[in-house]
Amino acid sequence: MGITDIPQLEDLPLRRGTRVLLRADFNVPLHDGVISDDLRIRAALPTIEWLREHHCSIVACSHLGRPKPVAGAPFDAKLSLAPVARRLSELLHTEVGLAPEVTGFEAQARAASLAPGEVMLLENLRFNPGEKACDPDFCTELSELADVYVNDAFGAAHRAHASIVGPPAVLPSAAGRLLQREVEVLGGMLERPQHPFVAVLGGAKVSDKLGVIEALLDHCDTILVGGAMAFTFHAAQGLAIGDSLVEPDFVERCRALLATGHILVPTDVVIAQAMEPDASTRHVGAGGIPDGWKGLDIGPETAGTFSDVIADARMVLWNGPMGVFEMAPFAMGTRTVAEAIAECGGFTVVGGGDSAAAVAAFGLANRIDHVSTGGGASLELIEQGDLPGLKALREAAARRRA
Ligand code: 3PG
Repeated sequence: MGITDIPQLEDLPLRRGTRVLLRADFNVPLHDGVISDDLRIRAALPTIEWLREHHCSIVACSHLGRPKPVAGAPFDAKLSLAPVARRLSELLHTEVGLAPEVTGFEAQARAASLAPGEVMLLENLRFNPGEKACDPDFCTELSELADVYVNDAFGAAHRAHASIVGPPAVLPSAAGRLLQREVEVLGGMLERPQHPFVAVLGGAKVSDKLGVIEALLDHCDTILVGGAMAFTFHAAQGLAIGDSLVEPDFVERCRALLATGHILVPTDVVIAQAMEPDASTRHVGAGGIPDGWKGLDIGPETAGTFSDVIADARMVLWNGPMGVFEMAPFAMGTRTVAEAIAECGGFTVVGGGDSAAAVAAFGLANRIDHVSTGGGASLELIEQGDLPGLKALREAAARRRA
């Protein structure tokens, strides 16, 4: 059975008024209570609209941030889903009520009184410690809110938390449209790669990406490495890296990866003495970083080489920026790579997180074939070939068939 074999909405036993527990990923960026990017809310709309068209009532739920208990209060009210309920109401043109708690009497009463087509939202799942702990009682409380379960939270499908694996163990369950599309795109790249298949990986820590690089070597022709993680590869080549970020414990694994001949690392870098928006910079060849200086972007020669490799690709997968693109002196590499991916005639996918933020910041998101809503989830899917949330849905389908 392949990664993409998961039950779909059409497989659910629905009738008028069926109550659906919908696990979405509404983990949106919030600044002073204002949502700065509602992509994840809009991405959930096709599933919600489909369920409403099929006369279901919807109990939506999500986590938001990583709330910690606050003195005198059970949770951090700044991470309430109230702004999400308001935005959802606007987008759906219908009132989406927010239950004051995740489960409990009021949530149950509100769920029970939903009319077909109505939508409510539970409070931030992580306000209940049972969510992350996957507490069996909390799993039961969630499951008892509905007749069926839909997981549309691709961004959280790598977390074996209560709302991801609990309800599908007991309710008829399916993937929502977003989850299905994400899995089809990412799973499809791995199961049916078109060559040349190029992966572009960046970001700060090589330790986060080594497993993914090792997994991608089975599928990709070339892996382009930028970002601070490239300096551990430079260290493996015996190059001077000045004060750049390095993870000495991973130098040996980087050396073994370089020996495959499928990995390209920067040949030049943009350096500065401090990571500041007005830092003065220098451009040096790889290995030419003096002490007291650190690499904060790939250089123009590398950006050109990477762009040429991307231009010839039939598939491109990008995860992680090439430098500190949020600061103007270090944005060139990420912008050049983003533009090359936007220009590429092959099938292009940007993993979530910082690289999705970069294509959005450069106004290129609509020129990418698929911008994933899941950062950690897309990496784990590539590395492990499966996710707890997908496994739980497949097991639910197998139970129904048995
Ligand atoms: C994300 O933003 O990547 C997902 O919503 C998962 O969030 P988490 O890393 O806090 O589990």
